[in-house]
Amino acid sequence: MATTRSREDVHYFGAGPAPLPSVVLTEAAEALVNYKGKGLGLAEISHRSGDANDVLRETKENLTTLLNIPDNYEILFMQSGGTGEFSAVVQNLVSAWVEKRRKATDEQIRKEHPGLSDKEVESKVIASLKEQKEKELKLDYLVTGSWSLKASQEAARLIGDKYVNVALDARAHNDKKFGKIPAEDTWKLTPTGKGKPGPAFVYFCDNETVDGVEFPSFPKSLESQTGDEADGPVVVADMSSNFLSRRVDVAKYGVIFAGAQKNVGVAGITIAIVRKSLLAPAVASPPPHILRELGLAPVPIVLDYSTAAKNNSLYNTLPIFNLWIAGRVMKKLVDDYKGKGLAGQEEISHRKAEAIYGALDKYPNVYRVVPDKSVRSRMNICFRVNGGDAEREKEFLAGAEARLLQGLKGHRSVGGMRASSYNAVSEDAVHKLVAYLEHFAQAGQA
Ligand SMILES: Cc1ncc(COP(=O)(O)O)c(C=O)c1O
Repeated sequence: MATTRSREDVHYFGAGPAPLPSVVLTEAAEALVNYKGKGLGLAEISHRSGDANDVLRETKENLTTLLNIPDNYEILFMQSGGTGEFSAVVQNLVSAWVEKRRKATDEQIRKEHPGLSDKEVESKVIASLKEQKEKELKLDYLVTGSWSLKASQEAARLIGDKYVNVALDARAHNDKKFGKIPAEDTWKLTPTGKGKPGPAFVYFCDNETVDGVEFPSFPKSLESQTGDEADGPVVVADMSSNFLSRRVDVAKYGVIFAGAQKNVGVAGITIAIVRKSLLAPAVASPPPHILRELGLAPVPIVLDYSTAAKNNSLYNTLPIFNLWIAGRVMKKLVDDYKGKGLAGQEEISHRKAEAIYGALDKYPNVYRVVPDKSVRSRMNICFRVNGGDAEREKEFLAGAEARLLQGLKGHRSVGGMRASSYNAVSEDAVHKLVAYLEHFAQAGQA
């Protein structure tokens, strides 16, 4: 007969989907069957009902509290997954880039040639935009791991290689492997500032889940030179695997996105926080035929940020049950760290990571942490056992499994071990892992 285990017996360190707080899941089980005693489950009711609207509102409120999101930002709930956002940011922000230039060019041409018909103006605008696109459209990517690499490849697939500037490929600085973020003065960013067109955006992945590389802080070279958003590049960050694990100054970003399934919920909900100046009505969508003339495609409607914003994320059916789970996890963070906000979670995330790295560093003959010390992720701790010896790594995993320490195998593309320490991984689970790391190392040395 198969052994029955409780949630308390098992400690899961998988990279995502990942553990969620048990109290939220217990409530979720009830909500799925009979929400608030209404005789219907939350996944069965309309996404346009009053209850669904309450879920949306409360989730936004809690997220705003946690991240201190300023008023000039929209919170959007999408269903794209992180991967869908790789495409969404390109298409939305290139459209915004085209529209800003289309308006400015249209005005200028009308001023210079007052007698032209609308059709004649448009054909001049299109000719000018084609030239501007060829000369000036650049999307900057900082490639520091597998996910930013994928995002840059998607950008190249959608709009063409020559418009994508890989400003940094971190592998070139680390023996062809990810694991370091070299000094910012080595990055080849498209110059921004007075009189320079700058990139349409600069993209980075705040925490690289596969490679265990995390930006220690916001890159200095992406800061606005004056604090005014117009004096810096539009910065896009993928925070899928470290969302709500530390404080973030949202005002520095044009777009932050994160899939829910690591730190805040189950798959099916993706959060995008977007500066309003990048959305309609500030920037309308360019007419589709103009985009087509430029060899670009209009944004698919389900990925369109302005459409999502205008419809309170309800343009099409939103999985309210999944949103509710994310909302409850957020509410729990608000309640758990009252007064401290995300600084409370940041402290714990740091402490857990320190404990695991501490145990690994203590036995350099047995363990080797993969990324450089300066960029070690607090969320995904990647290491090798006995220099990557296949038998020893198998032994390590089998010993962990025997203690019900699960999900420690590294991503198939890089091998090795990976201990993910997302928000819902308890300090108790981390202590058990640390005890095992010690035990395995000492037994191996005896
Ligand atoms: C940092 C990061 N970005 C993007 C993704 C892709 O997310 P999804 O599977 O939701 O498309 C992942 C998935 O693990 C990730 O870790």
